[in-house]
Amino acid sequence: MTTKILLINGPNLNMLGIRKPEIYGTATLAEIEAELISYGDKKGCLVSCFQSNHEGAIIDAIHSAYGKIDGIIINPGAYTHYSYAISDAIESVMIPVVEVHLSDIHNREDFRSKSVIEPVSLCQISGHGKEGYFMALDCLLEYLNRK
Ligand code: DQA
Repeated sequence: MTTKILLINGPNLNMLGIRKPEIYGTATLAEIEAELISYGDKKGCLVSCFQSNHEGAIIDAIHSAYGKIDGIIINPGAYTHYSYAISDAIESVMIPVVEVHLSDIHNREDFRSKSVIEPVSLCQISGHGKEGYFMALDCLLEYLNRK
């Protein structure tokens, strides 16, 4: 069976390419998604992509993944720092999750260094720009292949 990975990007990540390129890079979300899909394809897995600016829609996407998706890569945007609802959703579905941030959240404003998603994630990848998404896929596949 083909491994299925869901990429979730949260609020404001639809603005990549326009939003603070000096922090988040110049690639658009569509470019990152296309690159991750083809990277996944080379590794024999199917990557589907979802972006929303709404907390409830992100929670619904996590719930919908239950029983259908083998691993989730999530950049929850600012929800990272306070959404216990997204953290609970991840815990509810028991799907392995890797948290990604384009910027180094530990070397910016104080409020960004705390993640409520980290305790429910396999690992957190932060500060590697768009490369972080590929690293997250590698990490998930390594974990899933070990199982
Ligand atoms: C971000 C970091 C968050 O603090 C911020 O709110 C984002 C993007 C990142 O990818 O670096 O929207 O998750």
